[in-house]
Amino acid sequence: MTRKTNQILLTGTTGQVGAELLKTLAPFGEIVAPQRGEMDLADERSVREQIRSVRPRWIVNPAAYTAVDKAESEPELAYAINERAVRAIGEEARKIGAGVIHFSTDYVFDGAGARPYAEDDPTGPVSVYGASKLAGERALAASGAPHMIFRTSWVYGPRGKNFLLTILKLARERDNLRIVADQHGAPTWSRDLARMTAHVIDRVEAAARGRELKDVLPLWSGVYHAAGAGETTWFGFAAEALKLAAAREPATKFAALEAITTAEYPTPARRPSNSRMCGEKLQREFGWTMMDWKDSLCEVMAEI
Ligand SMILES: NC(=O)c1ccc[n+]([C@@H]2O[C@H](COP(=O)([O-])OP(=O)(O)OC[C@H]3O[C@@H](n4cnc5c(N)ncnc54)[C@H](OP(=O)(O)O)[C@@H]3O)[C@@H](O)[C@H]2O)c1
Repeated sequence: MTRKTNQILLTGTTGQVGAELLKTLAPFGEIVAPQRGEMDLADERSVREQIRSVRPRWIVNPAAYTAVDKAESEPELAYAINERAVRAIGEEARKIGAGVIHFSTDYVFDGAGARPYAEDDPTGPVSVYGASKLAGERALAASGAPHMIFRTSWVYGPRGKNFLLTILKLARERDNLRIVADQHGAPTWSRDLARMTAHVIDRVEAAARGRELKDVLPLWSGVYHAAGAGETTWFGFAAEALKLAAAREPATKFAALEAITTAEYPTPARRPSNSRMCGEKLQREFGWTMMDWKDSLCEVMAEI
């Protein structure tokens, strides 16, 4: 069977990043976006069957088990989706020479220190979710498929389930909100990630000029940090969002914010206190700088 050219198998299109990728990847070919019923990442066999039947040029995988706290009590499912499905994607991609773009997380790090993490800094996840995502990164790398892994952080946008939308809702309903102020990182706009992915595919395709991706992509294979530029805390993010909301709706009373420590807000999963990630490699290799989180927040707020 010959591979149909220009097909992109895209997972997770009901999610924040997948929904944006559906739009930004459209110029690159026919998008095949199976829903859960057709390709269930918890069922390795259905993953392999889908790839064998579509035989895409690219597999782009933003789908994941993303329930960070729930993963602590559902490790089996988290690993099935975040590790075993990713291994299956890599192994099948290698067989057909497809390129894989996969997404990972700042939670692969333990959060010690205060400087931005580089791609080759030692990992040390402190949660089941982080460990399962790291296991997925390693499984993909070991599969031999040409691949790129974009590690991102604090993803949000005008739709989906995310911190910003939760805060905006709660701030209308309550008088006070207590927000963690000792976890440092950067919010990342789902659309900025999707635009970056399209830019990278464009660069790789320009270099490939129709050749098999397996002959070109290994040059770039590996991990890239792709988080919003700048840094803040969850408290800083909420404060900036409410400042913009209040400017737009002066008559609305929004909750007052109280800065608290992680210890004052216990959750089932531990989170790293330092989630800062350095974007220099992405800039160097592909000439892309992620948007500053404050600029993207302004754009997202304008869409809400
Ligand atoms: N959200 C963040 O703050 C964050 C931070 C760092 C890294 N990341 C990473 O960035 C990527 C994108 O995250 P996101 O925020 O877009 O995630 P999201 O909004 O939670 O979406 C997850 C997607 O995965 C799909 N999915 C989950 N289990 C599945 C299964 N068994 N079979 C098929 N599809 C399944 C979901 O489908 P359903 O709609 O059917 O559930 C949904 O489309 C992920 O790799 C995530 O680990 C996210």
